[in-house]
Amino acid sequence: MTKRRQGSLAVFPGSFDPITNGHLDIVDRGLGVFDRVRMAILMNPEKQPLFSVQERVALIREAYRGNPRVEVDTFSGLLVDYAERVGASVIIRGIRAISDFEYEFQMALMNRRLNPQIETVFMMPAESYSYVSSRLVKEVFQLGGRVSDLVPPVVERWLSEKYGTPIRAGRARRRR
Ligand code: PNS
Repeated sequence: MTKRRQGSLAVFPGSFDPITNGHLDIVDRGLGVFDRVRMAILMNPEKQPLFSVQERVALIREAYRGNPRVEVDTFSGLLVDYAERVGASVIIRGIRAISDFEYEFQMALMNRRLNPQIETVFMMPAESYSYVSSRLVKEVFQLGGRVSDLVPPVVERWLSEKYGTPIRAGRARRRR
């Protein structure tokens, strides 16, 4: 098993609109390597999210209630500036498929150019989440599909409130 780096902090940035079990899988893997993982939500005025930044913070807090090693924050401006400000030397990004790679590779190299002290670490989620994205989860839920195995229950409940549609019954893996 990997030895955790003492006192290390990794930033896991993203839109998280909303968090999915794929994101949680990456956080769990990050916790195996780093002491703390901070999920950092980009405040992007150009995007029209389903959940406000405050709601996304609340969803993550609820999913990780009682786990002090997972933090949540918001940021604007350059990611590397944010990481430096909070004392993180690592950025975590998840790669689900080769199709993610080109964009992620470009971002990682640009971030390295902007601040060579900060390393990007790519992590692969479990195969069962390789097709899961926030966008697809929203679309499937809105059209009446079941997403219980793809998001934490709190996200499913809030999706139901947002869209005014019931949660589709079925077997669900329990997570707070
Ligand atoms: O979940 P997403 O939307 O794919 O996350 C993208 C994110 C937030 C990681 C990326 O847009 C970002 O880092 N934005 C901050 C602005 C920045 O630093 N841009 C230069 C990156 S090369």
